[in-house]
Amino acid sequence: MARCHGKPEGNTVILLPRLLMPRIRPPKPPSRPAGASIWQRMKLFRRDMFRSQPEKLYSARMAQISTPFYDSVLINEPSIISEILEKRTGDFPKAGLIGDTLRPLLGNSVFVTNDDIWARQRRLIDPAFAAGRLKENFAPMLQASNAALDRLGDGPHEVEFETAHLAADVIFRTLFSLPISAPAARDVFEAFRAYQRAQPLLSPLDLVRAPAWVPRKRPGRDHAAHIRRLLKDLVEARAETIRKGDAPDDLATKIMTARDPQGTGGFSSDEMIDQVAIFFLAGHETSASALSWGLYCLACDPEAQQCVAHEVAAVIGNREMTFDDIPKLRFTRNVFREVLRLYPPVPMMVRETRKPETFRERKLRAGSLAILSPWHMHRHTRIWPDADVFDPWRWNEEATRHAARGAYFPFSKGPRVCTGAGFAMLEGVLTLAKLVHAFHFAPTAQVPVPVAHLTVRAEAGIHLNLTSRSGTDTI
Ligand code: HEM
Repeated sequence: MARCHGKPEGNTVILLPRLLMPRIRPPKPPSRPAGASIWQRMKLFRRDMFRSQPEKLYSARMAQISTPFYDSVLINEPSIISEILEKRTGDFPKAGLIGDTLRPLLGNSVFVTNDDIWARQRRLIDPAFAAGRLKENFAPMLQASNAALDRLGDGPHEVEFETAHLAADVIFRTLFSLPISAPAARDVFEAFRAYQRAQPLLSPLDLVRAPAWVPRKRPGRDHAAHIRRLLKDLVEARAETIRKGDAPDDLATKIMTARDPQGTGGFSSDEMIDQVAIFFLAGHETSASALSWGLYCLACDPEAQQCVAHEVAAVIGNREMTFDDIPKLRFTRNVFREVLRLYPPVPMMVRETRKPETFRERKLRAGSLAILSPWHMHRHTRIWPDADVFDPWRWNEEATRHAARGAYFPFSKGPRVCTGAGFAMLEGVLTLAKLVHAFHFAPTAQVPVPVAHLTVRAEAGIHLNLTSRSGTDTI
């Protein structure tokens, strides 16, 4: 049995100091070779954005990526990141770049808008996700986790598919009180999978900001239109039940009945389709990515996996999990934090400069791009000791908490911080705990290669072997 740095005490686990055990280095994509020509870079970019980037981005404070068309900088300096995301957000709107790719699917959703339109959308959405209301999502999340356990069995599984299925189930149950097995929910899930396979995050033409009239491949456009038709039916059906007064009190009802305290009314049906599209996309793609990498890291680190199993067994024993158990799962929470560090599901964010700026003595024209990269910042060699090592125990150390204050932002930060951050942390800890309580996860010969799709995914999926823990020791 693997040694565990925790011992059960009452219904909680006291974490012991980390032993000097070798920890694992889970997969990281190769950086581009030094001296690669522009054509080689374009070719690498076509395969995957991570591969087209130089190694120095993991150690530099800032790196300029100039093109003939515009300036762009990747910023790894905590004080400048804070300036952009927290202090002077009005000077750095979201860049149109990503919005243009996603607009066929997301319309004018809160993810792509700026300024007054964005602020109004947040006023209508935020109350539904307030910390005090998180508990209301626990029961549907638990039901979705139990449904996933019923679907899974001993043997090999491609866990990216399984976690996407689970996270989509969580979103449908919390948003529309529908399980993923309901035909309307299943159709949306399948249409999203087709969209994700078809649509790269950016075309190389977007990256060089070629004018809009230059034809680009937007292979996801038809899938996007299909998804929006399906979402329209769901929104219209819900509007009808709200009118009749018998709608369930879920996220959709909360957001559709919200009224702006500044007197602009609520969302129209069309606006609501935009918002539902982003909740579904942002809410299930991201959580699925984090959960699948989390299971992979635990499969490769039997000791950490044993500690999660051990902690959950100590906290819940043979009964069902409750909302009040979640804060007691401290090690599991640290595993999830560490996974969000190494595999931040949203690897990069892009902002535009509204006026000329000077960062680290470099002048940028108005309209330049500022790239904020949790992917690079979370693995930055100047900030994180053993940056590429999976080490959930590091989160007990003051040095980590200090580094995290400036250099850890998997949910972004400032006014545009992820609406669903609290929701996602609850879901992440709950689902990881339930899965590891039920199954032992082991790696297969296939080592996953991270790639930047809509979120950080594995090029050929994540393949793990599952063995039921019933009848085996968990402590
Ligand atoms: C592990 C899970 C998640 C991660 C890592 C994550 C991460 C992020 C990040 C980094 C952003 C900022 C993107 C940018 O500024 O370019 C964001 C925005 C957003 N996220 Fe999440 N997210 C997660 C789960 C969720 C969930 C569960 C929901 C809703 C149910 C959600 C809804 C949103 C929305 C609506 C925005 C746009 C906020 C705005 O621009 O004002 N996310 N998320």
